[in-house]
Amino acid sequence: MTNDHSAARKRPSSKGDILAALDIGSSKICCFIARTTAEGGTRVIGIGHHISQGVKGGNIVDVEAAQNAINATLDNAEEVAGEKISRVIVNFSGGKLLSHHADIHINLNGREASDYDIERALAMGQQENLPEGSELIHLVPTDFSIDGQNGIRDPRGMIGDNLNAKLHMVSAHYAPIRTLLSALQRCHLHVEHVVVSPFASGLACLVDDEMELGATLIDMGGGTTTFALFNDKQMVHADSIPIGGMHVTNDIARGLTTPVNHAERLKTLFGNALSSSSDEREMIDVPQVGEEAPEHANHIPKSHLIRIIGPRLEETFEHLRDRLKAAEGSVAVNRRVVLTGGACQLPGIREMAQRILDKQVRIGRPYRLQGLSDNASGPAFATIAGLLAYTTNPVAGMPRFGQDLSASQGFFDRIGGWLRNAI
Ligand SMILES: Nc1ncnc2c1ncn2[C@@H]1O[C@H](COP(=O)(O)OP(=O)(O)OP(=O)(O)O)[C@@H](O)[C@H]1O
Ligand SMILES: [Mg+2]
Repeated sequence: MTNDHSAARKRPSSKGDILAALDIGSSKICCFIARTTAEGGTRVIGIGHHISQGVKGGNIVDVEAAQNAINATLDNAEEVAGEKISRVIVNFSGGKLLSHHADIHINLNGREASDYDIERALAMGQQENLPEGSELIHLVPTDFSIDGQNGIRDPRGMIGDNLNAKLHMVSAHYAPIRTLLSALQRCHLHVEHVVVSPFASGLACLVDDEMELGATLIDMGGGTTTFALFNDKQMVHADSIPIGGMHVTNDIARGLTTPVNHAERLKTLFGNALSSSSDEREMIDVPQVGEEAPEHANHIPKSHLIRIIGPRLEETFEHLRDRLKAAEGSVAVNRRVVLTGGACQLPGIREMAQRILDKQVRIGRPYRLQGLSDNASGPAFATIAGLLAYTTNPVAGMPRFGQDLSASQGFFDRIGGWLRNAI
């Protein structure tokens, strides 16, 4: 199943720090290769993207097809960067993201809290019971308290009797994660971190105040809509819905009996989440399935198209509203919402989200990475930009312990051990 390129994937150069991120999406696969700068920033030196193959709803469903698309993407990025890569940070948005919260208690008995205590708290968190068949992806301490005084971001050096850690754990069904890692292993890539997509997108799009005061980041992709809540500079909740922009496109294709590529074009050229009074008068040409010659096209008012798009988006936001309501049981959900991902680019979507979610909504695009061309800095590139941000940690004062679960013992001891035996 491997090709010549993947077999030869080695990193010959050692001129400074090279980072590589890979976003395996349902619509596109993309890779950013970056070099860290002397000022602590990141400069993208190579970008590759390719139409996604073998990925559905964020999950790899055809390993060979996905592998070929991943290799083509990497070859592309490597050629532009003039660097070969062997290590990547990758996103995960498949399966069903689940958030759990745990309260961990550590006896300090009057001494200073240390790294060791935090490690113990995290290790205890990893022992928490997760639903059968799920794999832990992130383990994030969201709050510490010492002897009842909470709101402590970093307890190291503080003295007390009792240390309490509130932990946020994000898990998903083990099978799609293992399929992803196994596919990457077959591409001769070592995975440094696995980061859930809305976490990465949040790191790329949210401004510091949103991170601190609280915001919900919604990543509207092709096959999934994922979201993460941030509070006090930490991700406190994550969830996903298996509906994305491709569902809107497929509804159009079915509703107007037009091929999927034309449905996609009609959506991006004439689509709108909201109807307007001119929609009845404006006529559009719709090529018909099996009869794509222009003379066979149907002429329909734009309102027909808008009436197909609206209900699917309303359904998506109603699901999101219900999920956010459910999350309020365990975390604070404030009024700020940031929409990103390719599918948020439909005109009128912000107003629709505002009405259904009853929140203050803005469209977010990755702003933390400098020097990207316009076509690589839109909302569809939020996740990949965030994967790079994840390694360089641009959010001032955001302690990193715990978030690197995928690079630490917990994740790859279990997954890595399984991979070694399986391949
Ligand atoms: N201008 C546009 N207007 C409306 N929708 C658009 C526009 N451009 C792209 N899209 C939609 O965005 C979706 C792809 O978004 P994105 O690239 O974020 O998905 P992905 O990351 O590959 O998928 P996922 O995250 O679900 O696995 C497609 O459904 C596409 O139709
Ligand atoms: Mg995506």
